Amino acid sequence: MSRPLEIAVVVPVFNERANVAALVAKLDAALAGRSWEAIFVDDDSPDGTADAARDLARIDPRVRVIQRIGRRGLSTACIEGMCASAAPVVAVIDGDLQHDERLLPQMLDVLSAEPDVDVVIGSRFMTGGGTGDWDRDRVAKSALATRLSRRVLKADLSDPMSGFFAIRADVLRGLVPVLSGIGFKILLDIMTASPRPLKFRELPYTFRVREAGESKLDHVVAMEYLIALYDRMFGKVVPVRFAMFSAIGAAGAAVHLAVLWPLFRGLGMRFLTATIVATAVAMTFNFFLNNALTYRDRRLKGARQLFDGWIGFCLVCAIGAVANVGVAAFLHDVQQGGWAVSALAGIVVAAVWNFALSSRFVWG
Ligand code: GDD
Ligand code: MN
Repeated sequence: MSRPLEIAVVVPVFNERANVAALVAKLDAALAGRSWEAIFVDDDSPDGTADAARDLARIDPRVRVIQRIGRRGLSTACIEGMCASAAPVVAVIDGDLQHDERLLPQMLDVLSAEPDVDVVIGSRFMTGGGTGDWDRDRVAKSALATRLSRRVLKADLSDPMSGFFAIRADVLRGLVPVLSGIGFKILLDIMTASPRPLKFRELPYTFRVREAGESKLDHVVAMEYLIALYDRMFGKVVPVRFAMFSAIGAAGAAVHLAVLWPLFRGLGMRFLTATIVATAVAMTFNFFLNNALTYRDRRLKGARQLFDGWIGFCLVCAIGAVANVGVAAFLHDVQQGGWAVSALAGIVVAAVWNFALSSRFVWG
């Protein structure tokens, strides 16, 4: 029998075909004498990353591949990879060779020498670490993100944005039910999910320059970061999806007025006709924005899906509008409620209705 498995190295990958073999070679060197496996978690990359990883897995049983179809997301990829191993320690490392894999044995050593430590984190911002050749823009953005993270983080981490760490598998498994899985920052998710502060150690390393492929960090990722922070701060009071849906609904009301005004006052269209046009434009606006943002993880694509979704969304909202009018009129006329309170109550009822039904029947 071979030695029991010591560590699983989870590698989230998207369009990293050119880096897969090099990373396995580096792991092989860094983890010589240890019993390890590498789990590539690919989100069906168009460049054939999963095939490249399977080519290696066929000749090296330490290499494993999870290929997810129809899903995207760095954090959820890491979570699924970590849950797919029997190893007592799971590490996460980028698939683009930017993290220094030579830290992995040190991480293992800390965990075996100090039984009370839960997680060992690679840090670029402690003495001995560095960010390589980042431009000033990226340094500033990373610093801002780090400062924002302090609002949800109680631990004094030097590099909470790090995506390179090793954690005890049982600790991780205990936390999975409360992880948000939103966005890029799995370590921050883990550290803020835990009801008891996790005991951590940091080890310095220098972030390497990416040689092949390109970074997936873009505006959507930045937005998801803010969403994840919101979720940690207020998500229990107002769920993040409902907050986005409502904000987009408010923007839709502004669009409605912006269309209504010129048609009615400018072109002299009948108020009823102008209102119908404004409603149709606002609903369409809301449908596409919700599809792109609120439900970006289950986005409808292609003419057919979009058309069906749009029809369904308009139907749901039409009923929501009737409910809105009904509730407001009832409160105002029958209950003698103030006009503002009655109007607001109608809007809230319609928002909840639209959200509940569209999440079930349009993006369900
Ligand atoms: N499966 C999967 N799905 N993998 C992904 C996805 C995705 O949607 N998006 C990105 N990845 C993979 C990339 O292929 C790469 O291996 C790794 O996640 C990091 O992505 P990069 O696009 O290289 O991001 P980065 O270098 O800007 O950010 C990294 O550095 C940060 C520190 O500044 C990430 O490791 C962050 O987690 C880390 O905090
Ligand atoms: Mn990278």
